[in-house]
Amino acid sequence: MKIQSHNFTQSIFETILPIDNQLYSKIKKQKLTKEEELQSSYDTPIDKILFNEIKNYLQDYMDSVGKMLNKEKNIIDYMWFQKYFISDYHNVHCHNSGTNEYSFILYIDCGDKSGDTRFLNLGYPHINLNEYRVKPVKGKCLIFLGALPHESIPARDNKKTIVSGNIQYQ
Ligand SMILES: [Fe+2]
Repeated sequence: MKIQSHNFTQSIFETILPIDNQLYSKIKKQKLTKEEELQSSYDTPIDKILFNEIKNYLQDYMDSVGKMLNKEKNIIDYMWFQKYFISDYHNVHCHNSGTNEYSFILYIDCGDKSGDTRFLNLGYPHINLNEYRVKPVKGKCLIFLGALPHESIPARDNKKTIVSGNIQYQ
């Protein structure tokens, strides 16, 4: 009996970028708003110059992922900063639902006790099939489909700082 198995998967792209301390310290100085779960700049568009500096920093990586996705172009739609103090977390959420809408997380700072990023399968919480956890590492950058549910589990230190954003691939 011949049985074939057909799998549908979603990739989470991951790389470690060369640490740019000058850029990272600029990011860490940005003013954030205290929200219920964490501190964020989400409601205020970030400074244009800093936006472009981060965009340039990520460009090679975004292009390389684009090649893997067979896409010619990419545009960062929006970008924001987040910081987690002890017990801060970010509940399960998705960024987008489009087939070409991706997101990134760049870890600017973290410690051993910073909260992992936990990805869940498409369709969560209606169905809970599997999860994939990423440990924050300074300079690590993830690119993933914006529709993938994900969360930041509670922090046990005051260090985790990230840049996140949405990328359109065309
Ligand atoms: Fe997110």
